[in-house]
Amino acid sequence: MKKIAVIPGDGVGPEVIAVAVRALQAVDRARGLGLELVPFDYGAERYLRDGVTLPPGQIEDFRENYSAILLGAIGDPRVPDNRHGREILLGLRFSLDLYVNLRPVRLLAERLCPLKGKKPADVDLVVFRENTEGLYADVGGIFKKGTPDEIAVNEDVNTRKGVERILRAAFAWAKAHGKGRVCMSDKANALRFAHDLWQRAFREVGADYPGIEKRHLYVDALAMKLVETPEAFDVIVTCNLFGDILTDLGAALVGGLGLAASANLNPDSRTLAGMFEPVHGSAPDIAGRGIANPLAAVSSAALLLDAIGHGPEGAILERAVGSAVARGVLTRDVGGEASTAAVGDFVVAEIERIVRA
Ligand SMILES: NC(=O)c1ccc[n+]([C@@H]2O[C@H](COP(=O)([O-])OP(=O)(O)OC[C@H]3O[C@@H](n4cnc5c(N)ncnc54)[C@H](O)[C@@H]3O)[C@@H](O)[C@H]2O)c1
Repeated sequence: MKKIAVIPGDGVGPEVIAVAVRALQAVDRARGLGLELVPFDYGAERYLRDGVTLPPGQIEDFRENYSAILLGAIGDPRVPDNRHGREILLGLRFSLDLYVNLRPVRLLAERLCPLKGKKPADVDLVVFRENTEGLYADVGGIFKKGTPDEIAVNEDVNTRKGVERILRAAFAWAKAHGKGRVCMSDKANALRFAHDLWQRAFREVGADYPGIEKRHLYVDALAMKLVETPEAFDVIVTCNLFGDILTDLGAALVGGLGLAASANLNPDSRTLAGMFEPVHGSAPDIAGRGIANPLAAVSSAALLLDAIGHGPEGAILERAVGSAVARGVLTRDVGGEASTAAVGDFVVAEIERIVRA
């Protein structure tokens, strides 16, 4: 039995996670994977009710007793400072040391790409975003707040260990998946200390992977190249902030946030493989209307299955997502008319069909 913690969260989170759960249950039924999906009500509702973000002991429980976490989204206008979001999302990423944020950028149909003439084979890359350090380390402070002399500082934290391990994860993934090119992106021309470390570590770690072509681009140049020639990239590895921004650009290349999946991984963990979530947030502007695109959540569930040793079953979920795109059974954000639930019905039926075939 493999236990999966399911945290639907806020806004559209519960709507899209309901579909991802149905997809997991369908493939579990067909293939007898022995998944036990355990729901958790962490999010704004719980926080506003009793002040709990993650109760004491929960992180240890996840680490020791679960194979993975499936998360919807956290964020609610009723919590303007997003305290619960920071504590739940960043709390899990940091406490579980989920240092790899893996985000595939894969085009499923030419018509979903805003770039002229780009085909699915032209946009097929994976971004490795450092997930525990950088400008998101929450180190800093505000001095003389609210006065004309106010000073606000966020420190960019880059450790040798943190930089090396994300680089190594990117190279190892490229090698394991037969991808020949790794591009590291930084801003070493301006951030002379932190990103000098990235440059040196990239050369050193890269030396262990002689068969892989290494390339470096400053992040501003990479943003341009990703739009001009996305086909020039297989694997991109970068820091927390740049990865955050570049993967929204990546999502736009393949049809938008409704299709973008992510995995937060600790490749060294022997128990919990990681936390899997769509890239999008809680989308309060469309929450509760039954129109949220659930395919990013289903693709995130596919990444989850792959990470816990059920790669073939993950591939079945991905094929079902591909069929929904090919047949146009889509929500309105990607040009369709179907409801969230109708896309869910199609995905489940498609999983059952693929398994029978
Ligand atoms: N990992 C997370 O949980 C996460 C990530 C990003 C933002 N957030 C939070 O979510 C809240 C809203 O943030 P935001 O509006 O900047 O980003 P968002 O991703 O929630 O929404 C951006 C736009 O994309 C659309 N969109 C998002 N997901 C969609 C889906 N599945 N189907 C169709 N359309 C979709 C939304 O309607 C909106 O127009 C904030 O509280 C923010 O802090 C959480």
